[in-house]
Amino acid sequence: MQILFAFSNSPKYNEYVNEIVFVDTYGHLLGGKPMKYGYFDDKNREYVITVPGTPLPWINYLGRNDMYGLISNTAGGYTFYKDAKLRRLTRFRYNNVPRDFGGRYYYIKDGNTIWNPAYMPCKTKLDSYSCRHGLGYSIFEASKNDISSSLLCFIPLNDNVEIHKLVLKNNSKELKSINVYGTTEWCLYNAVDDFSNFQRNYNIGEVEIGKNTIYHITEYRERRNHFSFFNVNRDIDGFDSDLDTFIGQMNSWTNPEAVTKGISFSSKASGWSPIAAFRNDIKLQPGEEITLIYLLGYTENDKEDKYLADGSINNKKALALIEKYSTVENVNQALDDLAQQWTKDLSKFQISSPNKKFDRMINIWNQYQCMTTYNLSRSASYFESGMGRGMGFRDSCQDILGFVHIIPEKARQRIIDIASIQFEDGSTYHQYQPLNKKGNADVGSGFNDDPLWLVACTSAYIKETGDLSILNDQVPFNNTLGSEVSLFEHLTRSVNFISDNRGPHGLPLIGRADWNDCLNLNCFSLSPGESFQTASNYDSHKAESVFIAGMFVLYGKEYCELAKLMNKEKENREISTAISEIEKAVIKNGWDGKWYLRAYDAFENKVGSKENEEGKIFIEPQGMCAMAGIGESFEMPKQAIESLEKYLLCDYGVQLLSPCYSKYHIELGEITTYPPGYKENGSVFCHTNPWIVIAETLVGNKEKAYEIYKKYTPSFIEDISEIHRSEPYVYCQTIAGKEAQNYGEGKNSWLTGAASWSFVAASQSILGIQPTYNGLILDPHLPKEFDKIRVVRTFRGVVYNINIFNKNSGIYEMTVDGIKSKDKFIKYDNTKTTIDVEIRL
Ligand code: GLC
Ligand code: GLC
Repeated sequence: MQILFAFSNSPKYNEYVNEIVFVDTYGHLLGGKPMKYGYFDDKNREYVITVPGTPLPWINYLGRNDMYGLISNTAGGYTFYKDAKLRRLTRFRYNNVPRDFGGRYYYIKDGNTIWNPAYMPCKTKLDSYSCRHGLGYSIFEASKNDISSSLLCFIPLNDNVEIHKLVLKNNSKELKSINVYGTTEWCLYNAVDDFSNFQRNYNIGEVEIGKNTIYHITEYRERRNHFSFFNVNRDIDGFDSDLDTFIGQMNSWTNPEAVTKGISFSSKASGWSPIAAFRNDIKLQPGEEITLIYLLGYTENDKEDKYLADGSINNKKALALIEKYSTVENVNQALDDLAQQWTKDLSKFQISSPNKKFDRMINIWNQYQCMTTYNLSRSASYFESGMGRGMGFRDSCQDILGFVHIIPEKARQRIIDIASIQFEDGSTYHQYQPLNKKGNADVGSGFNDDPLWLVACTSAYIKETGDLSILNDQVPFNNTLGSEVSLFEHLTRSVNFISDNRGPHGLPLIGRADWNDCLNLNCFSLSPGESFQTASNYDSHKAESVFIAGMFVLYGKEYCELAKLMNKEKENREISTAISEIEKAVIKNGWDGKWYLRAYDAFENKVGSKENEEGKIFIEPQGMCAMAGIGESFEMPKQAIESLEKYLLCDYGVQLLSPCYSKYHIELGEITTYPPGYKENGSVFCHTNPWIVIAETLVGNKEKAYEIYKKYTPSFIEDISEIHRSEPYVYCQTIAGKEAQNYGEGKNSWLTGAASWSFVAASQSILGIQPTYNGLILDPHLPKEFDKIRVVRTFRGVVYNINIFNKNSGIYEMTVDGIKSKDKFIKYDNTKTTIDVEIRL
């Protein structure tokens, strides 16, 4: 493989993009054609980054059960156990210059040259560099002065240990004597406290030094029954565990004194900042290769079992992990197991279409991102500090929509956890912390769309699995023992909460906000810095949301289906009545003539209307009400979508609103605090775009559906990475809109509802494979470009081999195992293991 970046201003031929580009050391485009910073390696399910200086850190996630790591293309990031706020293992420096600081920093001192296998932190010019982000692992390959390095980082499936396998090879004809340093900087477990409470923290840091191992045992002497450790599988020649000593006065991680001198100080941390830094002095003969395995681990002990007889910490579990992963064979096996698990998980939905950009999203990256959002909700990314938001109620419910087919059993548990933070009246906490699963009182409640998302994810789970039994599971309110009722009753409280809280126009009250956290119609905030999400609400009992109305119609109908399946006639009747009332209310009071209104504010003024000067039309109600089919007989969905195309469609998708707000409107809240074109004030808020893709298919515009999908889907905008700036393999939350200075720039990558919803839109609307309570509907809406598609979909253990031939003929023909079907539906049949389906369009 060739190096693809130029460390000078000289042109380099980029074999992957087939063009000449000029970039500086930091990857900035100096001239030439628009560039990419890497390429997709579909066979290996990797994105290969070929320039260390990507426009923003391009990151990946390690771990998928209890331990997680964020890792950038220069090995930056941090590691935590279950909860990025409450159980942070390593330190990261936020808001820094450079932005990405703190990470898995390895140093190679070869004579007077000191370099890093992932370029940071020394930024020494490398002879070659690449970073391969794969499914749950990242590999950094580099070379400098005839030494090549490969650093593999991953977390095995079932152990709480982050493995860093470092392979070094001497490619020269001479003996090489090098010092290798492996480092980690500990976080004192509670990330918020670690970042603020220095008067205490600079006194409490403690480590224990073991054989080739440093244990981080801060607060273990008192209430913690866990510690972390860093180990290397080879006898060390020196160590440090005190940051200041290792780094030296006035130095930084870019030039630690120990490393520049090629020595170690054997420092034992006492307070201040504990670290772990090992030195190995290595001689490599010409052609010789050496492998070092570093482990960053975490273990817990029972309260009674914290110490060994001699008074030292009980490190038995740590030693077992160290033993297990001390060999290359075991490490390779663990990587292999991880890969196989991913193959299995992704196999539930695989396609082959004429467009590889589409295929790689569906087959690999979109599903991978769905798993990540499922695991982490909005807690920890390079834009979510891991110290603020835990698991969001509405976020986690929606994350299930795109994840449920991958591991339904996990989704089941999540639904129960989420429902457990609901209150008896059907409203709910907005978030919970993953470590203790308790509702987060700091963020509070009152987001009136929240309860309905519980219906959405429960019905999606039952459609995927057929497991109605979940509805009988006993689930508490607000995690209070003794308050348990059935999950079905939770859903009933959810829909009743909306139905019972309607405003002057017969539409649902918005409360603190609905899906749009920033449309705060009862807030009236005047104090600088006050959070719009938690400011005390004026609670007009007047502000209403057309969006929630659409949601109620859409998911209320799902609730009624479930009620029928559970023989709950009364519940079905009551909610059916409420649905038709709310539907009528939207048609009468929620229609602005050419599109759906957004809301009524606390003074009963229209929001999202032609009468407004700014914010005339919003995306959310167009998507939601069209998906709910409100006013279909008056062609409202069709008209709304036409208006949206006219006013909101831009180069990178559909903007959230138009025109953007230029002034602060106290009666509308946070939405008007963002400069025009950013975030909720008129960016392309990617989460909402799949709603429009779905709506376009519903009103019969399949070309338009695909056109919109392509505009905001990362693999399709890889070629404009210098504009988009975010990772080309995952969705970001927001792309700056037309009115923004940085039009087209993506921000807040990874943790966004865009992941799940895009997968739903592509799989269920474009490809048209829709799970129902008793089978599958197959109703593709394929653009002309897709003349032939093959889909392999595993549904409740049955493998459906689906071949779709698209002549765009306007007719629909399906055969199931060779037999012509009367409709677009295949009833679930558990006597079969595979079913062959052919569809001609
Ligand atoms: C963020 C939140 C999500 C919200 C959206 C719109 O992505 O995580 O819950 O719906 O913003 O405000
Ligand atoms: C801000 C963001 C919004 C996010 C919310 C969460 O309002 O704009 O997207 O959901 O914070 O607290």
